[in-house]
Amino acid sequence: MTNEIKIHDLNAENFITERVNEIVSAVGQGTAINALSGGVDSSVVTLLGHRALGHRLRTVFVQNGLMREGEAEFVADIFSKLGVKVEIVDARKEFLDALKGITDPEEKREAITQTFYKKVFGRIVRESGAKFLLQGTILTDIDETVAGIKRQHNVFAQLGIDPEETFGYQILEPLIRLRKDGVRVAGKALGLPEEMFNRIPFPGPALAARIIGEVTAEKLDLVKKATSVVERILAGTGAFQYMAILHNDRVTGMREGKRKFGHQIEIRCWDSVDARTASPTKLPFETLEELASSILENVPEVVSVTYNIASKPPSTLEAI
Ligand code: XMP
Repeated sequence: MTNEIKIHDLNAENFITERVNEIVSAVGQGTAINALSGGVDSSVVTLLGHRALGHRLRTVFVQNGLMREGEAEFVADIFSKLGVKVEIVDARKEFLDALKGITDPEEKREAITQTFYKKVFGRIVRESGAKFLLQGTILTDIDETVAGIKRQHNVFAQLGIDPEETFGYQILEPLIRLRKDGVRVAGKALGLPEEMFNRIPFPGPALAARIIGEVTAEKLDLVKKATSVVERILAGTGAFQYMAILHNDRVTGMREGKRKFGHQIEIRCWDSVDARTASPTKLPFETLEELASSILENVPEVVSVTYNIASKPPSTLEAI
């Protein structure tokens, strides 16, 4: 089932019809549920599921506190205009509690996965009685998990987890044969607005993937402010993905004429087709200067701003 549909072989209308039919026949007269994160993948799954099941698909946005500022309301508003009701569930405290004291990248990912699937979303699914979960896993997620590069938050089979046994629901993954470029084409054909289907990718572990070391409320606030600046300034570049990363080490700087041990932000901006390989975008130096001054102005805790110039591999796009 995981044989790839390459972009030049993708007929979006046929793809949509086939996936909708599969969802209809799997779910029958039952109900399904899906978690919408606002990323391209989960947005496309939401529209496919909605087309197949209408109100029998319940769409939930889990507010984990790790997303961009204002993200939940922004996403719910876009989908409301498309006729899809999105329920926002506040789970900020549960995620912060689960991440407390954890510094190891894989343990952070694991804590988020467990909190999401076993605690928060598991509870929502159990209470809803839905037996099917629609999920936006794509082929790249599987490749990277199989290759042992990174534990993705959503690839169960490859991790030896039987979701029916562990979580009590069956998973449907309608995008499993596509890569990101194919998902965008399907999204456009489903009527998703361009600001959503052309959105830069955002990782499942969200801003926790961009905080080196322990995730705290204070660090989240800081990385959110830096993210807003980076996304605003780099929006028109056409780059594949751009992000702000908060380092763990403090460095000496100056604020108001006094020495300050401040935070460091690393900016990454990537040229890539499918995220498997990537190189840093050759941004004009004026843009880099604008990024630095705007971050230093809007995030007073920061005293150092750097730009990543390493390619993937050996780098990865995200920092953890
Ligand atoms: P890396 O950092 O592995 O990222 O070079 C490749 C692409 O995948 C995104 N990414 C994730 N997406 N769950 C996701 O859904 C994850 O755990 C995850 N980690 C990374 C990343 O943003 C990039 O586009």
